[in-house]
Amino acid sequence: MSQGYFITGTDTEIGKTHSAVELIRLYQRQGKRVLAMKPVASGCDIQADGSWHNDDVARLTAATGQTDLELMNPYRFLPPVSPHIAAREAGVAIDPARVAEHYRRLAEQGDIVLVEGAGGWLAPLSDTLFMSDMAQSLGLPVILVVGMRLGCINHALLTARAIADSGLALAGWVANCPQPRQAAYAENLDTLRRHIPAPLLLEIPYQS
Ligand SMILES: Nc1ncnc2c1ncn2[C@@H]1O[C@H](COP(=O)(O)OP(=O)(O)OP(=O)(O)O)[C@@H](O)[C@H]1O
Ligand SMILES: [Mg+2]
Repeated sequence: MSQGYFITGTDTEIGKTHSAVELIRLYQRQGKRVLAMKPVASGCDIQADGSWHNDDVARLTAATGQTDLELMNPYRFLPPVSPHIAAREAGVAIDPARVAEHYRRLAEQGDIVLVEGAGGWLAPLSDTLFMSDMAQSLGLPVILVVGMRLGCINHALLTARAIADSGLALAGWVANCPQPRQAAYAENLDTLRRHIPAPLLLEIPYQS
């Protein structure tokens, strides 16, 4: 029986992938077979051999050893813009049921499956669909990555409330430092600990 987690964050570029890779290594050290999924990736390049490259997909699969990129990343778009714009430009409708089917197949192969969202909790996937809808259709507990920088308390608490409103469980949160330690780091961490209704799973320092 596998366990999945949906990884969201306080923003884009705050360390969801970085934290996912740390979590993958942590679970691997516990002897678990870990697989990753990046259902929607915008910002891809086409390589000389015609294959698609996305940084998140590359970092996640390098950590897990997965080779079936289509299974772990069913939707990929070239421009580095919000998925709802990239999908519209490509004439593609992102279907959470397709993502759920890919997840189901991955879940058969691993002990732990980490699913990284794109952007934050309410990043739009179309005019009517948000990343939170995809998380709900997967029905997984959520891990919230907090990018430890000025403004993160507001972003973290709003996101935690929205996750609670969605009915999904917040399994825990990660304090990730995507930049050299912020001023008053310890006080910020303490405030987040007191207000986020879930355990702090991991503290990741800035790794230059
Ligand atoms: N703890 C850290 N130490 C050093 N660099 C970090 C750390 N966390 C994140 N970064 C760097 O910050 C950048 C953004 O991180 P990352 O790609 O993990 O963010 P993300 O939230 O997954 O972004 P996206 O929304 O594009 O998926 C990357 O270049 C990453 O290497
Ligand atoms: Mg990422």
